[in-house]
Formats: sequence, C-alpha cells, structure tokens
Amino acid sequence: MAFDLVFFGGTGDLVWRKLMPALFQAYRHDTLPEGGRIIGVGRDDLSDEQYRQQIQSRFEQVEGDKRPNSEEFARFASLLCYVRMDLSKPESYAALAARLAERETDNVVMYLSTAPSLFTTVCEQLAANGLNTSKTRIVLEKPLGHDLASNRAINEAVGKVFKEQQIFRIDHYLGKPAVQNLFAMRFGNALFEPLWRREHIANIQITMSEELGVEKRGGFYETTGALRDMVQNHALQLLCAIAMEPPINAHADAIRDEKLKVLRALKRWTPETLSQHVVRGQYAAGNVDGQAVPAYRDEPGVSPTSTTETFVALRTEIANWRWAGVPFYIRTGKRMASREAHIEINFRSTPHEIFQSPVGQVNKLVIHLQPKDGLELHLFAQGQSKRGQGSGGQTLSPVHLDLDFDKRFGSERVGAYERLLLDVLDGRLNLFVRSDEQEEAWRWVEPILRHWAADPVGPRPYAAGTWGPSASSAMIARDGFCWSEEI
Ligand code: BG6
Repeated sequence: MAFDLVFFGGTGDLVWRKLMPALFQAYRHDTLPEGGRIIGVGRDDLSDEQYRQQIQSRFEQVEGDKRPNSEEFARFASLLCYVRMDLSKPESYAALAARLAERETDNVVMYLSTAPSLFTTVCEQLAANGLNTSKTRIVLEKPLGHDLASNRAINEAVGKVFKEQQIFRIDHYLGKPAVQNLFAMRFGNALFEPLWRREHIANIQITMSEELGVEKRGGFYETTGALRDMVQNHALQLLCAIAMEPPINAHADAIRDEKLKVLRALKRWTPETLSQHVVRGQYAAGNVDGQAVPAYRDEPGVSPTSTTETFVALRTEIANWRWAGVPFYIRTGKRMASREAHIEINFRSTPHEIFQSPVGQVNKLVIHLQPKDGLELHLFAQGQSKRGQGSGGQTLSPVHLDLDFDKRFGSERVGAYERLLLDVLDGRLNLFVRSDEQEEAWRWVEPILRHWAADPVGPRPYAAGTWGPSASSAMIARDGFCWSEEI
C-alpha cells in the first residue's frame, strides 16, 4: 500500500519526539506499509537531505532502544523528504501539490501537527489546491479548541472540507496498549460483565499523575491548565472506556456511539457540586525524587501570580441504570509523587461477613496503564491461621493476581503513536474521537471553567512531589472512600 504521509509542523517537537520514533518502530517491526513517503513540511529552508540530517540528530535524544543505528537510519531516511511552506500563504500550497503529484499512491495522510489557529487555513487551502480527494485522510492533534465554541469552530471548518470518515482526531491515550486491553477485557471476556455495574461496584478511580512539571511549555500551559490538558480529553476517554455499554460490533461508529452516550449521561454540575466535588491545585516548590524543584509560578513562561491549575481532582456520576449513584473520581496533576496512570474498580464488600477482612480494604481490579501495563485483581485469602483463632474470628490477608502484559507480550507491544499512525494508514477510525464526543466533553467541562473564572480563591497549593492538595483527599473521604495510596 503506497502512502504519502505529510507532517505539517514537520520540524516541530511532536514530530521528532513522538511521530518519527513511532514510524521508525513500525519500520523496524516491518509493519509500516511498503512504498511509503514521509513528507515534512515547515518554514525553514531545508533540502531533503538537510531534513534527514535534522531528524537524525534529533533521534540522538530518543530513548536508547528506540534509536536507530546509522545503517537502520539510512534505510529509514530514504522515506523522508521535505517541502518548504508558509502555511498561512495560499501560494505556498502549490509546492506541496507538485510534490504529491510526483507519484500515484493509495492514500495521502495530512497530519496537522501545527498551532490550531492554522487548521482552518490549511484545510481550505488543501481543498483549493485539489488536495482533498477520496484518498485523503486528515489527522488533528490536540488542543482542538479551548472551549466548546472554539472546538466547534474547528470541527465546522474542518467539516466543510473533509467528511467525518476522513478525519482522525488523536487522543494518544486511546493508542496506549493498556487502553486497548481494557476494551479487550470488557468486551472479549464474559467474566467481569455481570459484575460491571452499580450493584457490585462501590466506586471507580482514575489517576493520571506525572512527576514532570511543565518543562518548557509554561507559555502554552498558562492558557491551558490540567482540566483542558488532561481531563477534557484523556480522562474522559478513559471514563468512557470503563463505563460504556458493550457496542453492537467493533466498528468505529458503534464504539463511538456508546462513548457518546456516557458523556451525555455525565451528571450536570450544580453550584453545590462545583464547590464540593472539584478541587484545583497548583504545585509549590518541593522535592521530586530527592531533587528540589521550583514552584509552578517560578517556571519559565509562567506568571508569578498565575492561577492556572496544575492539578485537578473531581467526582462525578453517570446518570443511567448501570451506574446511578456510583462515584467516579478523576485526578491528574503535574509534579506529583510518582508517574503513573491507573484505573481502580473498587467492588462492594461482602453482604454478610463471616471472616474479618483487612481494615479499609476491598476487592478491586486495578488496570495499570503506565509505567506498568497490566491487570491486578485484589482478593482476600486465608494465610497461615494463627493458633487460638476460631474460624469465626479469622482475619483474611490481601492477595492479588497480577497480569503483566509487558512480560506476556514483550516486544510485540506497540506504542501509542505507532498504533495510531498505523491505524490512520489503514483507515481504521476505532481509536479516534468523533466530533460529537469531543463537543460533549467540552460541554461538560465548561461549567467548571466558568466556576473557576468567577472564584477569587484560586487553586490550592500543594508541595511538588506529593499527591496534591489535602482537599482532594477530603473530597473523596466525604463519601467514605480514599485514594489507593492512603489505605
Ligand atoms: C499530553 C499533555 O496530552 O499528555 C501533556 O498535553 C502530558 O501535558 C501528556 O504530559 C501525558 O501523556 P503520557 O502519555 O506521558 O501520560
């Protein structure tokens, strides 16, 4: 399958940090379709050869085992070429059209890894230059807007030129192997489905914590914050994957229809829930891995009086028959105690206790997304019984079944961007977000943004290297539960 893959923003961070390494992995795994060409587009005046050299030197900064040796790079580099363009200038597009006209391909992918302010112009110009054909697919990277209105404006502008079937909106969390396994676990196995409901589940917790701060992205982050950066997209997509009904088949729209229903059923905010069930925080100076790190307000590009949140914890419910009354907790933040992403399904306790369970512990299923990728099922078992204990008073011990997907599947594992890029080339939309899902997610987060804008208190400080402000623990404790590290 011959393809042309065009990276708008071809010299930008995302391309050399994530996309090129992912394509190289696919090339190495022999899964990249043959006859491909990868065309970087940028403003710099570069020849194909100079672009290849630039990418090669950037590969030096890629994780060791994902880095090509020079012979491997030479082979991979034969796929790379470069077109100089100023995307804001209509006359620039002729150069791209000429390059694409050099050969016949089965499909052409336009990957917009640029500032969203350019999306509309790029789409219009692609159409004006005859570059939108039945073979064309377009990939959009977040941020797709900063609220519902701006998201709609992007979707409408892109929708004027491309059909929904041509549009691949990336949420890289959906490409993570663990998230695909979550779908497999739920819909490829019958075991958990009968338990997957309010009668058996007490609460669900989604944690996505990072140790890193905002790094060099202070300027961007100042106008974004954790709610827009992580909750509106990644966290809500995870919540959908956990809470959705089984789709009628594995086709993209069947899956997306069910996710959309979950987003529509999220409980609407009230003034009371906005003040009780949402906590925003901002990191102060602290220690991460024994290293002193500065406060968010002292990061480059950040205002010393910033009220941007670097942490969010919230509680919501899904108003439908399966989930009514079950709290779903989401928390995410930068400069937290460790880097991990996991989902905990906490089951209800036994209806009648004849053993003593360890205090505060319940049966739970932990879905690890990263750095570990696997499932843990926490149960109780009888260890060595102590002398003198009658069967009535025995205390059970926690034990767990541990399934490590990295160990099981090892090198067959495919990284998020590698998976998503291969799916775009293959035309599979399952792991991409439809415009209505995205808009519904914005509709749900907007009241929080409005509430914060009117709230003079601002985010609560938390020391870098901790699990966030204490208000996050207090929020969950009001329901009689706690975060996993507090047990
Ligand atoms: C991105 C956010 O979408 O996800 C970043 O913009 C964040 O701020 C990143 O660091 C986290 O992704 P991952 O895959 O490292 O968990």
